[in-house]
Amino acid sequence: MAKEIYVKKARIIGTGSYLPEKVLNNFDLEKMVDTTNDWILARTGIEERRIAADNESTSDLATKAAQRALEMAGVTPEEIDLIVMGTITGDYPWPATACIVQNNLGAKNAYAYDLSAACSGFVYALSSASDFLLAGRGKKALVIGAETLSRIVDWTDRNTCVLFGDGAGAVVLEAQEGESGILSCHMHSDGSYLDLLYQPGFGSKNPVSVQGIEDRSSFLKMQGNEVFKVAVRSLTEVSHEALKANDIKVKDLSLFIPHQANRRILEATAKRLKLQDEQCYINVNKYGNTSGATIPVAMDEAYRQGLLKEGGLVLLSAFGGGFTWGSVLLRW
Ligand code: UT7
Repeated sequence: MAKEIYVKKARIIGTGSYLPEKVLNNFDLEKMVDTTNDWILARTGIEERRIAADNESTSDLATKAAQRALEMAGVTPEEIDLIVMGTITGDYPWPATACIVQNNLGAKNAYAYDLSAACSGFVYALSSASDFLLAGRGKKALVIGAETLSRIVDWTDRNTCVLFGDGAGAVVLEAQEGESGILSCHMHSDGSYLDLLYQPGFGSKNPVSVQGIEDRSSFLKMQGNEVFKVAVRSLTEVSHEALKANDIKVKDLSLFIPHQANRRILEATAKRLKLQDEQCYINVNKYGNTSGATIPVAMDEAYRQGLLKEGGLVLLSAFGGGFTWGSVLLRW
């Protein structure tokens, strides 16, 4: 009998996530800004979000998520060759938070770097790590999406503060022969949308200043309804792009795990893609938008709930500041 020859693919062999203990619900927010539980639920689908403790930073969240992924994979920290972390809320402006995580884990054989692609950070990181492994630059990689957005949000701005939360998710990736693994990655950027979603302060353009903190101009800014429209369009297009490139029909997808920004964005995207409810994983109600962490957290939950079965086709699609957007299609 002819032996099937498989091309090597980067395969996820373990997932992990960590959400801080502190819960901030919509009723708590009613006491902080001029908003209501009804408005937040109706416009976003978010019920509550997690907030990092004062003594917790992004590297702490990321380390815990990574430890859980390593444990599931049965891989020791020393076996990891590469750590790529999607984040826009690192512990420090520099060095890379991935290096802090590397030290926390004892992953002494890994080289580590951060990748800045906002809410698309995890899919960008997954795509990069996959390419590195397939190029022979290592055998096993840790890919992390981790954020403490609570540290860059303006807690007096009802337009934005109700949307975001803190969290971390991680996967262990290994280059393997076989049917399972990453089938395609499609990444895109368009820098012309800068003003719709960004953090104006604390960088080289507008360095740290008392004024920037007092008048809140340094914190996260977003023109929500403009972002909304581009998000639905981009998530739909990049998802179609992945399916077409792999000659796969929407009905063949086991699970669609999109970036969790707003339930209305997810439902509008799912409708355009003609996905059934059970094909679409949604947990934005519990954690809000945790930027680069939403997809790996959702993937870890879905896997631990038994929703990801070997051989199933899984599509990850993300959209975020930059603008950046991208998809990863994989066979579990
Ligand atoms: O991860 C990617 C990045 N972000 C996103 O994907 C977010 C994309 N955008 C969104 O999710 C939605 O646009 C929002 C949830 C941010 C806003 O929903 P919307 O339906 O687009 O509302 P809007 O911005 O058009 O505002 C409608 C009204 C405004 O009042 P007026 O001008 O009509 O009187 C806002 O001031 O709702 C008001 N509003 C609020 N009211 C109560 C805005 N935020 C709040 C609030 N509570 N928290």
